[in-house]
Amino acid sequence: MKRRVILGTGGTIAGRSNRQSDNVGYVAGEVRVEDLMASVPALSSMCLEVEQLDQIDSKDMGFALWKRLAERVAHHVAREDVAGVVITHGTDTLEETAYFLERVLRPVKPVVITCAMRPSTALVPDGPQNLLDAVNAAGCVDLSGVVVVCAGLVHRAEHVAKVHSYRVDAFDSGDAGPMACVEEGEVRWFHPPQRTSVTSAGDTTLLHQVLAAEAMPRVDIVTSHADADGGMVRALLAASAVDAAHLPRGLVVAATGNGTVHRALEAALREAQQRGVRVIRATRCARGRVIPDAANPLHDSAGLSPVKARLALALDLLSE
Ligand code: SIN
Repeated sequence: MKRRVILGTGGTIAGRSNRQSDNVGYVAGEVRVEDLMASVPALSSMCLEVEQLDQIDSKDMGFALWKRLAERVAHHVAREDVAGVVITHGTDTLEETAYFLERVLRPVKPVVITCAMRPSTALVPDGPQNLLDAVNAAGCVDLSGVVVVCAGLVHRAEHVAKVHSYRVDAFDSGDAGPMACVEEGEVRWFHPPQRTSVTSAGDTTLLHQVLAAEAMPRVDIVTSHADADGGMVRALLAASAVDAAHLPRGLVVAATGNGTVHRALEAALREAQQRGVRVIRATRCARGRVIPDAANPLHDSAGLSPVKARLALALDLLSE
């Protein structure tokens, strides 16, 4: 039996509250992975290895920890004796980490990110079952790439998004739907499994560029809404006239509906584009995508949500 490696980063799954009934007034990232594992007896008979990489509330996630995660995951998935990797993570930026790791690593082996909506001290914590499901998924030979396991469902990194601020089934894969579920330790597929190709996974160019970088190219997100006037974009442009470091390399607009942008904001974005800033349109709708339109000078996000479009553009800029 090959081993599975669990990398801890914090989150509510590792959260602690003073009262069992308190599912919101807790501190995230307090309980070590070994202690979380102790609450799941079924894990004691499995061949597991643990690394505590950090203990953060994932709202504070950033490039430094992403680099560390990318390096450790790359190291472990390259090991002959490792079947897959599990990452315990906060729910708040989990979809960003999942997308980042999938883009940078394209792992052939399963890299399963899991989480919880209730702290470990809750009356009925959801973390222990999620952790067990994630470890089982990480041992599934048909599973490939970065996925998220939460509330019994398996989501692909590209599609997954946090859609609820409180419920334990907080994640959704939009129009694509979850790819599978985990039932009694077994992965049951809703769609035929897609394997990451060995060729795409074998290319470590982007990983090396990420590991060599001090920071990601700056890409900001602005939202189009009623009365949007482009003031924030113009403020960035004005600040960059004083100090060029304020000029973002890219902007993602969380646009209305099928990628429409308030005309005042659009004018400001076109000015930014003329100053060399790359501008991408994603939709602020929870579901659907911006339908490609070759005639629109502001390119669409190829179906990615605003936060993932931000990462996609930053990684494109990094690799240019
Ligand atoms: C976090 O994202 O670290 C806190 C919130 C959560 O995990 O649900």
